[in-house]
Amino acid sequence: MKSYIIKGGRALYGSIDINGSKNAALPILAATLLADGECKISNVPDLTDIKNMCELLSCLGCEIEKRYDTYEIFCSNPKSDIMSYETVNKLRASILVAGPLLAKTGKIRISMPGGCQIGARPIDLHLKGFTSMGANVNQGHGYIEAECQRLHGAKIYLDFPSVGATENLIMAASVAKGTTIIENAAAEPEITNLADFINKMGGKVYGAGTDNITIEGVEALKGTDFSVIPDRIEAGTFAFAVASTKGCAIINNVITEHLKPIIAKLNECGVYTKANENSLIVDASNGAGSADIKTMPYPGFPTDLQAPYVALMSGARGTSMVVETVFENRFMHIPELGRMGASIKVDGRTAVVEGTNLTGAKVKATDLRAGAGLVIAGLNAYGETVIEDVGHIERGYSNFAERLNSLNADIHIQ
Ligand code: EPZ
Repeated sequence: MKSYIIKGGRALYGSIDINGSKNAALPILAATLLADGECKISNVPDLTDIKNMCELLSCLGCEIEKRYDTYEIFCSNPKSDIMSYETVNKLRASILVAGPLLAKTGKIRISMPGGCQIGARPIDLHLKGFTSMGANVNQGHGYIEAECQRLHGAKIYLDFPSVGATENLIMAASVAKGTTIIENAAAEPEITNLADFINKMGGKVYGAGTDNITIEGVEALKGTDFSVIPDRIEAGTFAFAVASTKGCAIINNVITEHLKPIIAKLNECGVYTKANENSLIVDASNGAGSADIKTMPYPGFPTDLQAPYVALMSGARGTSMVVETVFENRFMHIPELGRMGASIKVDGRTAVVEGTNLTGAKVKATDLRAGAGLVIAGLNAYGETVIEDVGHIERGYSNFAERLNSLNADIHIQ
C-alpha cells in the first residue's frame, strides 16, 4: 500500500471545500434498490468504499452511470444475490443492502460480516428488526438467510441507537405493509438525509433525527434526483488538522449545525472559530489547549473524530481525558502516536493524553480514522513522519494529501 511522507511544523492556511458524506452516500446508494425507476444521486464522494458499494449494486443487477460526482442508478429487478465473505469484508456497509433487498425481493443471503479493527461490529439489531417485521432469519456456515412474503410493520426498540440498524430498518419498513415504529433510533444527520431521500421517492418516514421514527409502508417508491449532505467527519478532520498546526483556514461546503460538538471543543481548547451556515473559519494561531471528550451517539461528540482529536490533543497544551463509549477497540492509533513521542495512558475505554512536543517517526495506519489521526500528528510533529498503509485513509478521505498540501502542508505520496 502507499505511504505518506510528511514534513511537520508547517501552519495550514487557506480554504478547503468539503466533499459529500461517505456515511450518508452509502445508505442512499443502497436505498436506490427500492426505487421502481432511475435515481440520480449527486455530491457523492470519490472513495474506495463508494466504488465497492457500486460494484455490489452492479452484481445485484443495477445499471450504474457515473458522471463526475453524480451516479445514475437504475435497478428494475434486483437479484437477492449471495453477498460473499470477500464482498462483505471489503465493505462492511454492504449489510445496508439487506433491508432494501429483503423488502424488494423477499429474500437475502449474505455472509456474516467479520469483525474489524475497531470492534466486533455485530448485526444482531438489524436481524432482530427484520424478524419483528415478519422475516424468517437463519444463520449457518457463516451466512445469514432471511425471507419473507412481504414484510409487515412492527414496533422495534433498539438496545443501542445503532446507525446501520436504524438505516436498514427504515429502508425495509418503507415498502412494508403497515406502520413501523423504531424506538431508541439513531439520530445522526446521515439518517435524516436517507429519510429525506426515501420521502422524495414517495415514502412516508417521520421523525428522522430524533430517537423515535415512524415509517408508513407504501406500495412503491419512484426514482428521483437527490443530493448527499456534506461530510461532517471530513470537516472535523480538517478543522483538527488546522488546529494542530496553529493554522488559520476557512472550511467550505459544510452544514455547521452538524459540527456543533467539534466547534464547542475547539472553542474550549482556546481555538477561535466563526460559523456561518455553510462555512467554518478556524483560527488556531495561538495554538490549542486541551479539553476532555466522551464519544456519544449524535448529537454527542462523534466516535469517528475520536482518533483525530486524540492526535490534536497529543501535541496541544495541557492534559485531556478521552472516553470512547461507542466501539470497544478504537484506540489502535495510540501505540502509533506513542512512536511519535505522544504521552497517552490507556485504561479500558479511557485515554489520558498529556500534550507534548511530537517528533516525526515511521507509523502505520490501522483504519481510516486512526490513519487520519496519524496525519494530524505528523503535520504537528517536528521532523519527518512516514505513514504506511494509507489505503485505509483513502477509504474515507479523497485526495487527502493533495488537499492538505493546498493548505501549505508538505506531504509526499510514495
Ligand atoms: C456507522 O457504523 C458508521 N459507518 C461508522 O463510521 C460510525 O463509526 C458508526 O456508525 C457510529 O457512528 C457508516 O455509516 C457506513 P453502529 P455502524 O451500528 O452502523 C453496536 C467510519 O469511520 N451494534 O451505530 O456499523 C456496535 O457494535 C465508520 O466512517 C450492535 O451491538 O455503527 C457498536 O458498538 C466506522 N449490534 C455500536 O453499536 C448491531 O446490530 C455502534 O454501531 C449494530 C451495532
